[in-house]
Amino acid sequence: GSGPPPPNANFSFNTLFGTFDRASAQRGFQVYKEVCSACHAMRQLSYRNLLDLGLSEQQVREIAASFTVTDGPNDEGQMFERPGRLSDRFRRPFPNEQAARAANNGAYPPDLSVMVKARPDGANYIHALLTGYTDPPAGVTLMDGMNYNTWFPGHQIAMPNVLNDDQLEYADGTKATVDQMSRDVTTFLAWAAEPETEARRAMGVKVLIFLTILGGLVYAVKRKVWADVK
Ligand code: HEM
Repeated sequence: GSGPPPPNANFSFNTLFGTFDRASAQRGFQVYKEVCSACHAMRQLSYRNLLDLGLSEQQVREIAASFTVTDGPNDEGQMFERPGRLSDRFRRPFPNEQAARAANNGAYPPDLSVMVKARPDGANYIHALLTGYTDPPAGVTLMDGMNYNTWFPGHQIAMPNVLNDDQLEYADGTKATVDQMSRDVTTFLAWAAEPETEARRAMGVKVLIFLTILGGLVYAVKRKVWADVK
């Protein structure tokens, strides 16, 4: 089921003609890489997708190469490790669900590729979730290994609070508050889940312009055709 409706975080991409804040999405990738990727995979993304975020090819090649991926089998039938390439998928933290659960107290950190679409009001929800850890209210006893979160359905979540002020240094110098990191990683996840949003909206604008012009023409023609009819 769903939890309490999350507050509106006013993301630019949630407005009618909105676009993704590229700088925020780039910072969000940094948050994903340095924090979330320890537990969450994003298997639907390849490193080359980061080019769409406005990172240069050189930057993306370096990011990919900073990960070691398993490839093979080679001519001798062996698997081998090599630096990542643009065409590789984001490296996953665990080889399978069983290993992921074993490392997380039995809970499974879900793949985040389309998480923004998988939860109601996904972007606002994820932003709220990441900033929503508190002590449990009086009278509430947490189950073993669980954490209290205002916005998680049922409030008891296996994921611990992972964001703390200044825990990372942004490449662009932005101050890494909990709210900032939460906004940025949510922007990144929204872009990842729906990179076609902007193209879809741009098409919508073109359609509206076209319809406006066509409507004007039809009206003008109608006036002309009917001008002599009394
Ligand atoms: C669940 C996001 C970091 C472990 C989730 C969910 C989201 C999320 C959206 C799904 C919540 C739901 O089902 O509604 C993130 C983000 C992270 C992050 C954006 C980085 C900022 C981590 C880390 C760990 C972790 C570092 C491991 C230490 C888990 C686990 C769950 C979970 C175990 C399942 C929780 C449950 O079902 O009780 N996370 N996460 N997450 N995450 Fe994370």
